[in-house]
Amino acid sequence: MKNVTRSTIVAAGVIGILGILLSNALAQRPPRARGAGQGDSQLQKPPVPKDENEKKILGILDDIRARQQYRNVPAQDGRLLRLLAQSMNAKNIIEIGTSTGYSGIWFGMALQKTGGKLTTFEIDAQRAATARANFKRAGMADIITLVEGDAHEKVTALKDPIDILFLDADKEGYVDYLDKLLPLIRPGGLIIGHNISPRMADPKYMEAITSNPNLETIVRTEVSLTLKKG
Ligand SMILES: C[S@@+](CC[C@H](N)C(=O)[O-])C[C@H]1O[C@@H](n2cnc3c(N)ncnc32)[C@H](O)[C@@H]1O
Repeated sequence: MKNVTRSTIVAAGVIGILGILLSNALAQRPPRARGAGQGDSQLQKPPVPKDENEKKILGILDDIRARQQYRNVPAQDGRLLRLLAQSMNAKNIIEIGTSTGYSGIWFGMALQKTGGKLTTFEIDAQRAATARANFKRAGMADIITLVEGDAHEKVTALKDPIDILFLDADKEGYVDYLDKLLPLIRPGGLIIGHNISPRMADPKYMEAITSNPNLETIVRTEVSLTLKKG
């Protein structure tokens, strides 16, 4: 009995010490850097700016995030948008749901290299005004056009072939945006949907992008990537 009590005390002591060591280690962990280690991977590292322009833009993105009043894409998703746009040499990107321009600036970083342009749609006048100021600050006012108003109506004026369509507005509207803009997506173009989670995704949109033989869709952590096959 005495031995059992002693081993219980020793075990409790060991657990206590391990607990203290673990909480110290967590407390000493460096704060999460811009776009690093989000959720699924400790291997993620923050972007390393190549030059002063990239450094300036990454600083502006950090600042927008720090002052964030409205929902923007997570930094990792912004990085993905930039990477996709630049790697496919996108010239014409359409974004539905500008908010304050955070994801638009990630696209803008790619477009500064590809020589392309972004047209982005926002229904809320205050967010649109903030986004315009942010695009100007990032030196992207000449490559980003913000169209203010209901995108369901405004997109009907679009005529040029689209490399990337990014949907990040009213979730129940994704099917309508797809119906209106799929004919303009060029073969090999991408449709990227945001907030594609079991809770938020519209089942009708999911059906539309996963049952059409002309489309190939994968979903990764709340982002759907749909290729329009050639
Ligand atoms: C999640 S936020 C967009 C975030 C932005 N893409 C970013 O990451 O910085 C969604 C935006 O869509 C806008 N929105 C909702 N319905 C819309 C519509 N019918 N037409 C245009 N914009 C709309 C909202 O006002 C809101 O600012």
